[in-house]
Amino acid sequence: MEWTRQQRYRPLNEVSSTELAELQSTVNQCEWRQTFHIQPNTGLLNDPNGFSYFNGEYHLFYQWFPLGAVHGLKYWYHLKSKDLVYWDDLGVGLTPDSDFDSHGAYSGSAIEHQGKLYLLYTGNTRDDNWVRHPYQCVAIMDDDYQITKLDKPVISSIPEGYTDHFRDPKVWKQDDQYYAVIGAQRVNQTGCIVLYNSTNLLDWTFIGEIETEMDSFGFMWECPDYFELENQGVVIFSPQGLAASGDQYQNIYQSGYVIGEKLDMQQNKLRHGDFHELDRGFDFYAPQTTVDPSGRRILVGWMGLPEIAYPTDSNGWAHCLTLPRELSIQNGKLLQQPVKELEALRQQAHTVKDTIVNATKVYEGFTGTTYEMICEINSIDAQTVGIEFRTSEQEKTMIYYDAIGKKVVLDRTNSGQEVGVDYGTIRQCAIDANNITFQLFVDVSSVEIFINDGIEVFTSRIFPSQNSDGIRFFASAGSAEFQMSKWDY
Ligand code: FRU
Repeated sequence: MEWTRQQRYRPLNEVSSTELAELQSTVNQCEWRQTFHIQPNTGLLNDPNGFSYFNGEYHLFYQWFPLGAVHGLKYWYHLKSKDLVYWDDLGVGLTPDSDFDSHGAYSGSAIEHQGKLYLLYTGNTRDDNWVRHPYQCVAIMDDDYQITKLDKPVISSIPEGYTDHFRDPKVWKQDDQYYAVIGAQRVNQTGCIVLYNSTNLLDWTFIGEIETEMDSFGFMWECPDYFELENQGVVIFSPQGLAASGDQYQNIYQSGYVIGEKLDMQQNKLRHGDFHELDRGFDFYAPQTTVDPSGRRILVGWMGLPEIAYPTDSNGWAHCLTLPRELSIQNGKLLQQPVKELEALRQQAHTVKDTIVNATKVYEGFTGTTYEMICEINSIDAQTVGIEFRTSEQEKTMIYYDAIGKKVVLDRTNSGQEVGVDYGTIRQCAIDANNITFQLFVDVSSVEIFINDGIEVFTSRIFPSQNSDGIRFFASAGSAEFQMSKWDY
């Protein structure tokens, strides 16, 4: 179905309950609804927004277009949780109904201030000629989860030198001051990040562009995030327009980070190392982090990408969020681990230990469509070792280690219904290790695979049929010792 502009910008309050119920029933008939991931009831989910800890609870919002699987008029949808595992549905958080967000309550962040949660977001507007005018807006949430927007934006103009691609404020507090990074595009069509500061979250001063060593690195940087971890400065952002190069930048848009010295606020300069992609899978974009009272830095991403058609589109919904991951730094790179709380999802356990010699094997209890599995592979003398999962006679998804090429490979060539095939069906990255551990979180239509305790992660949607529920383990041209545990979810 082709969506007209009018259909895409139709507000939710103009839609009848009958029409919504019909859409809900189309969504409910979809065979690829997830079971333990955050997904929209109907319509399209994209970026995580306003991820924060407030009054003893985590709050998480997401970009939401309610009426179908297209990018239309965006709302913020609101969830909260005590444990990052089970989420309460609080419904719409922000409605794009003011002059300053008439064409979408776009991405932003949240922070506690004087007993309230302040949401800082981009109000997207278009004029009669469809020219974009972004505003940075504030809404305030009280103890009862009531969210009230301010009458006026807190940043109404774009500084000289930048285009109307100016959005996604991420706020943090440092030395009694608030700071916000905003994703921007210079007039010469290159992406960058600018910095503002404030003492009260209402009056903001433009400090300037953050000087980095990536002057010409894509045409737009979306969803920037800055934080300090283990005494270093980390900048996460989603650059658009990087050309694929070897195993890198294979998806339509990227998302990654640089680590360096702490941001020098005086000079507004970041000395940093190389850019690394956060995730090596097919479907990951626009992540956001928060810090919790125990000091953990936790990241959630959008398990999807812009401008790619997905098999669920025809069922009136698209996308989900990733599981929350705890970040740390190891050898100059971010390590990502699923938060410990997720163990609460583990039900019946199955474990096996075996040496596989040039064979593909199956084991009792090792089947399913929703589970967590940890597979450690040691004493590798085979050429390739790995796992085929969500298998049937026709379908399989593969994750394996190529011990000769020293690469981990995710292959969704035969994963079921095709998705994003113009961008290839294999993702891989270099890993030089003697032993390999794959930790998989398999849901009805996705997989997140943490390699060697999170030195790399492969996140992907897959669309196999329901009866593709097999799991096989293999070692080819040699032997390896396998030890696996699987928990039904
Ligand atoms: C990233 C993004 C943001 C924007 C939002 C709109 O996916 O394009 O830059 O704020 O999505 O939904």
